[in-house]
Order: sequence, then structure tokens, then C-alpha cells
Amino acid sequence: MLLLILFGVSSVIFVFLYLYYSQPMNYVVRLGELGFHFDPKDQKGTYRERQLERVKRLRKVGELPPVYPNGWFCIAESNEVREKGIKAVVVFGEQLSLVRAEDGYVHLIDSYCPHLGANLSVGGKVVNNNCVQCPFHGWVFSAETGKCVRIPYDSGTIPEQAKISTWPVLERNHHIYVWYHCDGLEPQWEIPEIEEVMNGDWKYRGRTEHELLCHCQEIPENGADLAHLNYLHLQIPQAGSDVFELKLTNPSPRLYHYWDGGWEARTGDEAHISVMKLQQVMMIGKTQLPLTASLLHAHQIGPGIVYMHFDFGFWGKAIVFHHVTPEEPLFQRARFVMYGATNPVFSRFFINSEALQFERDVYIWSNKRFLKSPLLVKNDGPVQKHRRWYSQFYTEKSPRLLPNGTVSNQVKSVLDW
Ligand code: FES
Ligand SMILES: [Fe+2]
Repeated sequence: MLLLILFGVSSVIFVFLYLYYSQPMNYVVRLGELGFHFDPKDQKGTYRERQLERVKRLRKVGELPPVYPNGWFCIAESNEVREKGIKAVVVFGEQLSLVRAEDGYVHLIDSYCPHLGANLSVGGKVVNNNCVQCPFHGWVFSAETGKCVRIPYDSGTIPEQAKISTWPVLERNHHIYVWYHCDGLEPQWEIPEIEEVMNGDWKYRGRTEHELLCHCQEIPENGADLAHLNYLHLQIPQAGSDVFELKLTNPSPRLYHYWDGGWEARTGDEAHISVMKLQQVMMIGKTQLPLTASLLHAHQIGPGIVYMHFDFGFWGKAIVFHHVTPEEPLFQRARFVMYGATNPVFSRFFINSEALQFERDVYIWSNKRFLKSPLLVKNDGPVQKHRRWYSQFYTEKSPRLLPNGTVSNQVKSVLDW
């Protein structure tokens, strides 16, 4: 009888835990919550804010490349802007409004109304399918063309200049992207459609999002920096992400992550793509832990998008969309979103592990300076090759960070050229 009760109770606990851990995870880390060396007692409140300001002030950022490369950048996940909704978006230091029309299409416009300057994403409303009505005096603008189509208290002709800038956007694989080019060039390449995601075969498995202070190139450069994998990422993710706590100097922990990979750039029509191949497995001594191996093909598509194709063997296949968006010169929003045919509990474990590994880099990126001429040795991996490849996304007019915190060339939509 006792056995039966025990069995019943543990089954209920098991089912409860399984259901709980099957839920897609949504893990968000705001700026300053991680990556800095503040005392634990200083982690919160206004003191933390002051410490953050101090970090920014004292930081030697180095000889940075331009801060806004040319290319597509993710500005939202599709479900962040519902039908007839307006979402405030910050990208390239600009305040923009992402609008979803009644017909489901998305449009991106500048946020400031040309009449008297109200911010359309603060109280503006979507009307007449794809138009936005300003919250101040009610002027109505087409979010598709940017033109003012109605002034509610004036029946005369609408001034020619009553127009808002619009930006090229693309909704794909449940993400929304904006195109930017400092020379006004229209999109130079496509973002591939992932069939299994679009046809629903691969299910949503969760997301993580981090705000961090660094240059946008630092994050993808990690993919070519093979030497850091078997040092910073050697300890298994469950050892944590805090580089103060991690036993980084232990060269042979009992449990560890084994990494082996390579990076190469594509050529011709696909010169905007580079591919990192990475095999990884968790090891105990010289033995592989069963069911922990994976093979990754990470396609970096332009400066801010990485489509990570995972083959987990027994656990199935999945894709993780990894996006880095420069919201300000040294403020990045990094997102990981997973879709897969993988078991939901495994997926949650994986996303959590990925986030813990990513956060170790966050500690590094948030405090490092950019070295234009790093001191590389033979086995460092193709860091310089990656830099040469990435430099194709900068042209002469690409905005650079000036000592006073502004940028050298004004950012504007390619549709305004
Ligand atoms: S400021 Fe927008 S209608 Fe007046
Ligand atoms: Fe890393």
C-alpha cells in the first residue's frame, strides 16, 4: 500500500515537473544585471546606475570599426507587434515605430510626427487598415508610404512635406528585419526562409534576450575565435556564467565541454555569408557523456544575423535564430530564439545551457576594448579573416562613434535617398 502511494505521489511530481519544464523558456537579462564587477550589494538600485555610468565613462573602447554596419537587422519577433499594434523600436540610435496593419503586414516609420513633433509610438493608433493617427492633433499618416492622408480639422490640401520616413522591412521566420545601408543602397541580399519553421513542423521552443554594452562586431567575432572555446567555455554550462566564480584556470575539470570547429567565408553571390562548423560534446574524463553531442552549422548572414542549424542526434534537429541589433553605438540587443522538432524538456535544457555559455562572453564583451591589431598566435583561429570578411559591411560613410558620443554620419532610411 505504502509503495503504491509513493508511486502515485512520485508520478504526480514527475508529470508536474515534466509539464513545467516543457514550457518554452523566456529569459531576459537587462543591462547591468550581468557582466560587470559590481559588488553584490551594489547590484541594485541607483548605485548600480551610477556604477554603469562610470563604467561607460572610464572605458577605453579602442579603435572601433564603424558602429552601424550595412545589412538586415532584427528589430522584433513577430509576436511582439499584434494586429493594429504599434511597437516602439530603437535601432541605429533612431526611434522608430513598428506598425502592424489590419491586413497583417508590418511597416516601419520614423516616430516623430512632422506636424509638431509628437512621438507616434506613444499613444498613436492604427486606423484605416495601414495608417497611423498621431496622438497630438490626430493627423493620419499611411505607414506604407509615410504620406499624410488626412488632417481631421482641415479640409484644404495636405502640404507636400507632411510625410514621415519609412524603412524597408521584411517579416520572415517569425522575425521582423530592417534594412540599413549608409550609401542608400536597397537590400543587397535575401534572408533565407526556413521551411520547417514557416510550415509549422518545427515548434517554438523558447527564447533568451540580453542587453549588453559592446560593439556589434565583437559578438560574431566569437565564432572565429576558436581558442577561447576550450578556455572560457571549457567548463560545462551548469558550472555557471559568472567569470568571477568559474574555475577557469583548471585545465582538466572532471566534467567539461569538448569543442572542435572551423570557420570559413563563402564567396560570389554568397560572400555576405560565413559558416562556422562546430562539434561539441560533454565529457567526463576521456568518455563522452551519452546524448550530449551536437553538430552545429552556424550561418552568419550579414553583420547581425546568425541562423544556427543544430543536429542533436537522438534529440532531433532544431534551428536557433541568433540576432544582434545595434540600438546605440555600444548598446546591443542579442536574441536567441529556438524552433525545433526536439523534445521540449531537452530544448529548455539546451537554451538554458546556451545562455549560460553566452553570458560568460557577456562578461568579456561588456568590459573589453577593441584592439585593431590584436596580438594573435598560430592557433588563435581565423580572427583576422573574420574581420576582413566582416569589413565588407562597412563603407566609407558608415557612421563612426565620435568622442562626444554622437556618430559621424546621420543615419537615415535608404528610402530617403
Ligand atoms: S504633432 Fe502629430 S498631429 Fe500634431
Ligand atoms: Fe564565446
